[in-house]
Amino acid sequence: MQAEDRLIIALDVPNTHEALALITALGPRARFFKIGYQLMSVGGFDLARTLIADGKSVFLDLKFHDIGNTVEKGVASVRTLGARMLTVHAEPDVLRGAVAGRGDDPTLKIMAVTVLTSMSQESLARLGIKTPVETLVLQRAEMALAAGADGVIASAQEAPAIRRAFGDDLLIVTPGIRPAGTKADDQKRVVTPRQALDNGASHLVVGRPIVAADDPQAALGAILDQMTG
Ligand code: C5P
Repeated sequence: MQAEDRLIIALDVPNTHEALALITALGPRARFFKIGYQLMSVGGFDLARTLIADGKSVFLDLKFHDIGNTVEKGVASVRTLGARMLTVHAEPDVLRGAVAGRGDDPTLKIMAVTVLTSMSQESLARLGIKTPVETLVLQRAEMALAAGADGVIASAQEAPAIRRAFGDDLLIVTPGIRPAGTKADDQKRVVTPRQALDNGASHLVVGRPIVAADDPQAALGAILDQMTG
């Protein structure tokens, strides 16, 4: 797989006008885009349709979390869009519903959010969860695999343990990527694009290092070079 198909650019901008301007500025090497909450209710789905019709790949970061029956129907609706990836939370009933809703669609990959990177051991304890984060990530990855999901969202720090436990059976999408020599923003634990791939990530999600760059196309090119170099 080419670096361009492994790099997912997070369209974390306030409206579709800005998103389209950014996509134009990025040029043809930008092939895979993440659309999430920020664009969802202001034309994000129409943008997804436009991008897909244009031959781009779309990752819908909707993080579904509901009773299985509702998730199943929601995923069946998402299926009509032609997106490549959709996130849901890694709980058995949610995963079961999502996999049922995807059916035999070969395009849409169900990606399970293991543990949000904003969660610390202390915040988990407040929810009554005492399991160490890495153990919890592995348990949830196992649940995702057992339910028939296609992959997980996890930090690059957790990717090696996931690969060791489950081999190449799961896609691993990692956020928290910062090119060598750039600032971390609010990401607590960051790794470079090369490190993330070496740790076993199949895809990287990158937002601000590209979206907020003075020259987004140059920033994209530098990251793609670091992925292949
Ligand atoms: O700007 P930055 O590169 O930090 O953006 C990362 C993207 O990945 C954002 O869209 C963020 O919502 C998403 N994300 C994350 N950490 C997670 C899951 C998703 O940063 N655990």
